Amino acid sequence: MRRPIIAGNWKMNMLISTAAEWVEEILGKSPLSDSVDIIVAPPFTALAVVRERIEGSRILLAGQNMGPEAEGARTGEVSAAMLKDAGCNYVILGHSERRQFFAETDELINRKIKIACDQGLNIIFCLGESLDDRDNDRTHDVVESQLAGGLADFDTGQLDRLAIAYEPVWAIGTGLNASPEQAQDVHRFIRAWLEKIFGSERSAGIRILYGGSVKPETSAPLMAEQDIDGLLVGGASLKSDYFYDIINFSQ
Ligand code: 13P
Repeated sequence: MRRPIIAGNWKMNMLISTAAEWVEEILGKSPLSDSVDIIVAPPFTALAVVRERIEGSRILLAGQNMGPEAEGARTGEVSAAMLKDAGCNYVILGHSERRQFFAETDELINRKIKIACDQGLNIIFCLGESLDDRDNDRTHDVVESQLAGGLADFDTGQLDRLAIAYEPVWAIGTGLNASPEQAQDVHRFIRAWLEKIFGSERSAGIRILYGGSVKPETSAPLMAEQDIDGLLVGGASLKSDYFYDIINFSQ
């Protein structure tokens, strides 16, 4: 059985003060479920305060991005080692907003994935098709090429560090989530690809998350699908009570 992941991606939201309040609010509710892994990805500036406030709780910390080199003269970048140093267990890589607004390519994402693994971070590798791709029946082709590009020459010894997030671009921040059947279809396709490339035994533990306009009321039907092993939540994760409900409805 794959242990579900419920992850909140705060994107470019939350100040140090509001991040601290969020943690207080969520930890102030009844104990958090211990049957799912709970991850939160604050902006870099709020990592320290969230780390301090979640100490001793079940919440894990993720970075939202990192640079493609281990260290050096790269003004403005944050390295994998820095994320680890800041208390992160995970890093989100390949998010469609990075692909769209920062021109990140599969090749760049592949480099980041390898560095993150080498430095001991776990990865949430995001991919997904645009509306145009879906309307033109290219969803599987696009997802396959993102998988092949992002995971080129991936060291199978690191597979336990890998989680994948299927985030259809048309569903992100739009209020239009993929139906459970649409999401399951792509998750099944991703699982079959992983089995083909890495073998069914080695890839059996890889968790595949769905992301895109997840809300408390849509989380349980999505999680009921066989190949949906977790949720990557954007907007609804900013409200501690919504995120708490999503965790509870997802067990
Ligand atoms: P929304 O939940 O706001 O659609 O964002 C999803 C997402 O991009 C998570 O990484």
